[in-house]
Amino acid sequence: MKLLISLALAAATFSLPAWAGDADAGKAKAAPCSTCHGAKGISTLNEAPNLAGQPEIYLIEQLRAYRSGKRQNEIMAIMAKPLSNTDIEDLAAWYSSIKIELK
Ligand code: HEC
Repeated sequence: MKLLISLALAAATFSLPAWAGDADAGKAKAAPCSTCHGAKGISTLNEAPNLAGQPEIYLIEQLRAYRSGKRQNEIMAIMAKPLSNTDIEDLAAWYSSIKIELK
């Protein structure tokens, strides 16, 4: 019985993705990003890519890479530097949750 319970708990833990951002929190944190990436992740600045609908894990990896300097860009290095892992996960959850339609 004890074993069954611990197996069930382990399964519940592993069924969650390793990242679990909060899209609502991310939306609130995205205010400074919207200047370039748009209020809904569709860019308002020509050089800035659209973020809406991009895969969550991709956005997390890019933001971590800007923060560490692995991916170099003057603007994004400044923007990513103060972000915590939770901030990055929340921001990625928000932008990836925006539905885009292709025509
Ligand atoms: C002053 C304009 C500006 C602001 C503000 C800004 N960005 Fe960016 N962002 C850019 C530009 C320009 C690029 C493209 C950089 C490159 O070539 O690597 C970029 C790239 C990115 C990428 C990579 C996208 C891809 O498709 O690879 C992500 C993710 C991103 N920004 C997230 C954010 C987040 C989150 C914020 C707010 C914390 C933010 N940005 C604020 C200008 C901005």
